[in-house]
Amino acid sequence: MAFDPASLSAFSARYPASPVRLRHDLTDHPLFAMDRLIALARALPEKSAEYNSGDLPIGQDPDKTPMNGLSAEETVRRIADNKSWIVLKNIEQNADYAELLESCLGDVAPMARAATGKMHMREGFIFVSSPGSVTPFHMDPEHNILMQVRGTKVFTIFPSGAESFLDADAHEAFHKPGGHRNLPYREEYEGKGEKIELSPGDALYAPVKAPHWVKVGPEVSVSLSVTWRSEASDAEAHLRRANGWLRGKGAAPPHPGASPLRDRAAVLASRIAERFHRS
Ligand SMILES: [Fe+2]
Repeated sequence: MAFDPASLSAFSARYPASPVRLRHDLTDHPLFAMDRLIALARALPEKSAEYNSGDLPIGQDPDKTPMNGLSAEETVRRIADNKSWIVLKNIEQNADYAELLESCLGDVAPMARAATGKMHMREGFIFVSSPGSVTPFHMDPEHNILMQVRGTKVFTIFPSGAESFLDADAHEAFHKPGGHRNLPYREEYEGKGEKIELSPGDALYAPVKAPHWVKVGPEVSVSLSVTWRSEASDAEAHLRRANGWLRGKGAAPPHPGASPLRDRAAVLASRIAERFHRS
């Protein structure tokens, strides 16, 4: 078991729409030793490593993100000095990390299944970051528990799903093919996010599409993200896709939730369209 019982009851009470703080026991786990992380960076396929200069503004244009000029392995090896962050994606490609991912997700799976339906796309990501690195303002399509293993981070998180914060256009653009996770950061957001400090042993459940940006503290940071999709997150994505398509045709679809029957019809239409495109 990776999480303590108090964390699991907090998760059960607040999942899926609110952030939840948890505690985990992975800080001394051998799979996070630097030599293991370097070996993982070397072994994973090139497409499974994404890395950037960590010296970025909060509102970073994704087309202009600078690279650091190093390989994934070298980026991890020299992370203390190279002002970068790297994410090793789909660590479950390696059997040892797959087992670790499953043991973390196994703790929360019964509660998640009860609230949002079957878990799928169970994926793990390891973030290795230089001191002071910034991950710009963005949102992610999955349920996510970020587990801080080494160093510290401040995770500034904003409400998920609330159209008072991000309008329907922003949600629909996110689900369009080629939509990027980075979001424009506006001055009026300042002070509206919740700042959550994470030290080794802390974890944070971040709801689907809760916008956030992250700043690493004064030491090298290593974090594990364990993520999944659910029947609920799939339905929301389909609804946004259908609404975006309709809006593109000049219609004005109602806000999600205003007409549940109509929402269900839109989700079904989007699922059928997706199946049709695949075949
Ligand atoms: Fe994120």
